[in-house]
Amino acid sequence: MTAGSEEIVVSHLTKHYKTLRAVDDLSFTVHSGRVTGFLGPNGAGKTTTLRMLLGLVAPTAGSATFGGVRYADLEQPIRHVGAVLEASSAHKGRTGLNHLRMICTAAGLPWEAADEALARVGLTPAAKRKFKGYSLGMKQRLGIAAALLGDPRVLILDEPANGLDPEGIRWMRDLLKTLAAEGRTVLVSSHLLGEMQQLADDVVIIAAGRLIRQGPVDEVLGSMAGTAHVRVRTPQVAELTAALSEHRATVTPLPDGALLVTGLDPAAVGHAAFANSVELHELTGERADLEQVFLQLTAGKAGIR
Ligand SMILES: Nc1ncnc2c1ncn2[C@@H]1O[C@H](COP(=O)(O)OP(=O)(O)O)[C@@H](O)[C@H]1O
Ligand SMILES: [Mg+2]
Repeated sequence: MTAGSEEIVVSHLTKHYKTLRAVDDLSFTVHSGRVTGFLGPNGAGKTTTLRMLLGLVAPTAGSATFGGVRYADLEQPIRHVGAVLEASSAHKGRTGLNHLRMICTAAGLPWEAADEALARVGLTPAAKRKFKGYSLGMKQRLGIAAALLGDPRVLILDEPANGLDPEGIRWMRDLLKTLAAEGRTVLVSSHLLGEMQQLADDVVIIAAGRLIRQGPVDEVLGSMAGTAHVRVRTPQVAELTAALSEHRATVTPLPDGALLVTGLDPAAVGHAAFANSVELHELTGERADLEQVFLQLTAGKAGIR
């Protein structure tokens, strides 16, 4: 199979637990050669979706395929899809290298794959150290090494940046970008917008099991940032409100007496005031805080679950 053909296609995927729609008619595509962030608040259904992709949870409805093939129908899945679903666990007394060799043996891969995978995640110096002495970051690297053993075309990581410090996140970003640049399909989940801004080329945002947005991260975040607003203060509230309304701006009075204007930039608000001889005491452009917009987009839908 060629690299380009191993897109992940998720089609009407649904999982009900009794009355809970954990994943609800979810459809999206993950392209090869790019890092795709799978973003949603805790409880949004990310892990359930990834587990369905990997055949670990049976969907109530819908399907997911890799290059057109369901996970269960892949020959030698370890060579197609590598996954890290939770903080990796390994026998405490075993070394990182032996842990990987065991997986190789079980999967019919040569032991050299273990050395290559360790080198790839920068763990060669710790290859012969025991797992119990590994830091959280090293355990996460070992988990990724295990996922890379079969040199898979597709990599799926569930919240891999959890607990990493900024340097660890930079390392993760560089590794994922390199893997994607090799033509692989990389799907990585997170509940933190900031992480996705750093890690992803594309983003799929879900809340309450449903799709909110998908597309290139710049485009999606750009469309979210469209809610920037202007704070303005005037002794002539009625006149200014009337003037701005003619420009189809939305004017919301704030408790402190200022007005919040959306739909116009600061220059346009200033001009409308000037043209109508309205005196201004304050004029401030405020960029939308993306994290806040993300929470607004996803909050009402998620509720407490
Ligand atoms: N085995 C299960 N049985 C019942 N409910 C579950 C099960 N697994 C997950 N859920 C529920 O499904 C929802 C989505 O969970 P999850 O996929 O883990 O979300 P995320 O990974 O986005 O935080 C949550 O409300 C969770 O409690
Ligand atoms: Mg999860």
